[in-house]
Amino acid sequence: MCGIVGFVGSTNAAPILLNNLEKLEYRGYDSAGISVIENGCIVTKKAKGRIANLKKLTDDGKNVNGCLGIGHTRWATHGEPNDINSHPHESMHGKFAVVHNGIIENYVSIRESLTKKGFKFMSETDTETVTQLLESYYDGNIMDAIVKTLHMIDGSYALGIICNDCTDKFYAVKKDNPLIIGLGDGENYIASDVTALIEHTRKVCYLEDNEIAVISKDSVHIYNLNGEEVEVKVKEIDWNINAAEKGGYPHFMMKEIMEQPKVIRDTVTPRIKNGEVVLDGIELDRYLDTVNKIVITACGSAYHAGFVGKYVLEKLARVPVEVDLASEFRYRDPMINKNSLVIAVSQSGETADTLAALKEAKRRGAKTLAIVNVVSSAIATTADDVIYTWAGPEIAVATTKAYSAQLTVFYLLAIYMARRLGKIDDARNAQLIADLLKLPEKVEKLFEQKTVIQNMASLYFNEKHIFFIGRNLDYASALEGSLKLKEISYIHSEAYAAGELKHGTISLIEEGRLVVAVACQNQLFEKTLSNIREVKARGADIVAIVDESNTVIESETDKVLYIPSTDPLFTASLSVIPMQFFGYYVAAANGCDIDKPRNLAKSVTVE
Ligand code: AGP
Repeated sequence: MCGIVGFVGSTNAAPILLNNLEKLEYRGYDSAGISVIENGCIVTKKAKGRIANLKKLTDDGKNVNGCLGIGHTRWATHGEPNDINSHPHESMHGKFAVVHNGIIENYVSIRESLTKKGFKFMSETDTETVTQLLESYYDGNIMDAIVKTLHMIDGSYALGIICNDCTDKFYAVKKDNPLIIGLGDGENYIASDVTALIEHTRKVCYLEDNEIAVISKDSVHIYNLNGEEVEVKVKEIDWNINAAEKGGYPHFMMKEIMEQPKVIRDTVTPRIKNGEVVLDGIELDRYLDTVNKIVITACGSAYHAGFVGKYVLEKLARVPVEVDLASEFRYRDPMINKNSLVIAVSQSGETADTLAALKEAKRRGAKTLAIVNVVSSAIATTADDVIYTWAGPEIAVATTKAYSAQLTVFYLLAIYMARRLGKIDDARNAQLIADLLKLPEKVEKLFEQKTVIQNMASLYFNEKHIFFIGRNLDYASALEGSLKLKEISYIHSEAYAAGELKHGTISLIEEGRLVVAVACQNQLFEKTLSNIREVKARGADIVAIVDESNTVIESETDKVLYIPSTDPLFTASLSVIPMQFFGYYVAAANGCDIDKPRNLAKSVTVE
């Protein structure tokens, strides 16, 4: 998704803007640009494609002078990726330049009315209406022009704004999209996320919705839409700077796969005290006994984590659980009320669909809890309660460690709820916690399969279609395995409930078709084995992922990948590991851009 940067200080802005944009590349983009105020004029340079093209255009920022500017990496929503549609967008007379993340819902009507007033639009974007509106309202008072513009536009936005009448300050405002102020020493910044700030400063301020920041090199002032100044709430970032670097791995994705044992430990261990799960700082206890339904809502892999969460929560806490795609949830007139608990799951905490679903849940009176990886993100601060996944910054677009951390939070939450609802006794509690604490070492053991899976990938990287099947928690895990493969290798893949094959899908099975069968639920092993036989009989190649005790399957499949035994409820944390490696190595064999797959963004902040 789009990335925004801004800078004001005593040194040339352009090289700093380019450097900070590079730190946001992982968010996904298709063009980039910067605008700098040089001798009272706005100089804008922008280019389709990678930031390298923009660096070439600006001679690494050397041919653009000025100490104040904004920059942007664009993930196209309105208008194809090209130079003209790239941000920043200047107003007709070059009075303003704007960078934007989000969507202006009513841009067509604004464009029509401004065109009638004589404004000429250069691009196809929704964003250009913002910069033209600013100029149309501007009478010398920039704040007044910004407030009037904000009252006119509908939708979601994070905006960086510069005006050529103001050579020492720039402006930032947001609604439903992230924007962070970096507080330096004699220089100040804005960025869409911390990865673009951490090398400059650890002091940040998370701008709130409908607050306007006025930023100079020596000061930051924040105002609400009534013009009243509000407090600048300064927070300290505690990331280590290496966390946002590859650390010697070929890709962030491989680094993050290998970090999963640590991430599981970091997420679980602090929440186990005296043999009990402890979830500090949440109000769940206050209303848990009034909850008669749980709805988990999320997108993509977070949705798959929610699928696992459903099975585990129902099994342990014995509360009915629905799982719904966030983009579907808010439009289905969901039957939730004050006795519902809605759990929003999100790595970035900024996914527009999930944030909107969460707000819909609150509007209908439900209690809300967020499972999020980014501190102070929109979803984290909107929900009544939040449980953080301590996965650290996840840079690869394809999530791995954050997904694994989400699973462990669901295990913790399910045990916590089950204890409070009296559904599990001391012995079961102790056994679950013991198995949970052993997960990291079992994940680590699976790393021994890397080479075997890499060799397997070399057999199948030319496949056109690959299926994943499983039952119950294995189906939930198969969904994630399938997404990992398709989103980074671009190979068509689908995950099916194994019992569903015979209701249509099995017609797609033909000689040599690869089917990855996840059969780690021992109580369902025979059932899934019969489904494996069904597809085998029709010519499929079978790679089975099973519990280490089920060696009987070797005579029935082409390849078996074993996972260490663990509590059946936790198998998804193990079965996903070989599928992460498989997706990675198939993509590598196809020469794909593993960390930044085409068309994808790390944080999808538009609907
Ligand atoms: C996962 O590999 C994908 N990148 C994508 O499905 C992602 O999980 C989804 O967009 C949700 O993102 P979030 O967790 O930041 O809300």
